Amino acid sequence: MNYKIAVIPGDGIGPEIVGASTKVLDKIGEKFNHSFDYTEVLAGGVAIDACDTPLPQETIDICKASDAVLLGALGGPKWDNLPGDKRPEAGLLGIRKALGLYANLRPAILYEELKASCPLKPEIVGDELDLMVVRELTGGIYFGEKGQDGDNAAWDVMKYTRPEVLRIARKAFEIAMKRHKKVTNVDKANVLGVSRFWRSIVLEVAKDFPEVELNHLYVDNAAMQLVINPKQFDVIVTSNLFGDILSDEASMITGSIGMLPSASLSDGKFGMYEPIHGSAPDIAGQDIANPIATIISVAMMLRFSLDLTEEADLIEAAVKKTLSQGYRTADIYSEGMKKVGTVEMGQRIIENL
Ligand code: NAD
Ligand code: IPM
Ligand code: MN
Repeated sequence: MNYKIAVIPGDGIGPEIVGASTKVLDKIGEKFNHSFDYTEVLAGGVAIDACDTPLPQETIDICKASDAVLLGALGGPKWDNLPGDKRPEAGLLGIRKALGLYANLRPAILYEELKASCPLKPEIVGDELDLMVVRELTGGIYFGEKGQDGDNAAWDVMKYTRPEVLRIARKAFEIAMKRHKKVTNVDKANVLGVSRFWRSIVLEVAKDFPEVELNHLYVDNAAMQLVINPKQFDVIVTSNLFGDILSDEASMITGSIGMLPSASLSDGKFGMYEPIHGSAPDIAGQDIANPIATIISVAMMLRFSLDLTEEADLIEAAVKKTLSQGYRTADIYSEGMKKVGTVEMGQRIIENL
């Protein structure tokens, strides 16, 4: 089969981690006789430099005409002083919105091989850690009304509509049905009206999923529980901003933010796949970034958008095997392991496919 993949390398370490990941995909193509046609497109800082906008219309059009999108990361200090709607990050928000990708799945799995890289005590981690953050991605405070009154005030409104909450809640319960049938709703319903509204709709959706156990945590408590008792979680469903913060926190349980992939989905098969981390300007261009989050994002792409389950399984198995052979990028390095760079990590994974 022939698949059209739009590729957005972006800024900072983006091109390095995406480069390693498309090589993995090429090898999968070779092995299984698929061809992946990449169309590289601009977004973020590189798009600002080339076309004076963080999200050229051509990028949106090419993404829409593709089977899936692979994205590295956008942003960096060079563009930090631009107005909000001209920044690289506005390109990322714009593409999520333009493609209708309201459901962001961020699985945090601690691989057996990486237990030494997890900062939590072994008794807290236990035998297995596998949780899924389902983050609402196209609403909430990221997309609410914004304004500024000169030097006096500035505001971003956190608003959710009923259809927005219904669809993300439903997605979370559907995912939980295929996992351990537990949903933790994270909000701030003790303070925010928008959270009370959100929670009431989650409760409504829960009635359609009687087998799923539902509980609620305030976001401050949830942040603490992730560190003291992460094993209680199966699926966490939460709003855009809370999901952004909690998923970075959850990533550390897996050893590093460089391990956490994501899928951004709508109702159909189409999706965008990206690591949850950013462009890491502090390590860009040094061949030390961990490409695994992006490589596992490619596995998610094969599974969700292209229905290539066997191929996706193989990538994940190759990642595990490479870790079991002791190869580690700097962020997940522990004593006695073999330190490798971005390129070599990618090559080792390919050898294990
Ligand atoms: P970041 O995730 O880029 O980096 C945070 C820390 O994690 C840094 O120390 C970095 O070196 C490290 N890190 C991140 N990815 C890594 C990897 N693959 N391997 C090893 N170490 C890794 O977050 P930040 O520093 O807050 O943001 C930098 C820029 O990235 C900003 O412009 C921000 O807006 C942008 N950003 C983009 C995305 C995205 O495109 N999805 C996500 C987050 C941040
Ligand atoms: C992420 C990032 C983005 C977000 C930024 C760069 C817009 O932090 O993908 O987690 O907040 O969604
Ligand atoms: Mn983030």
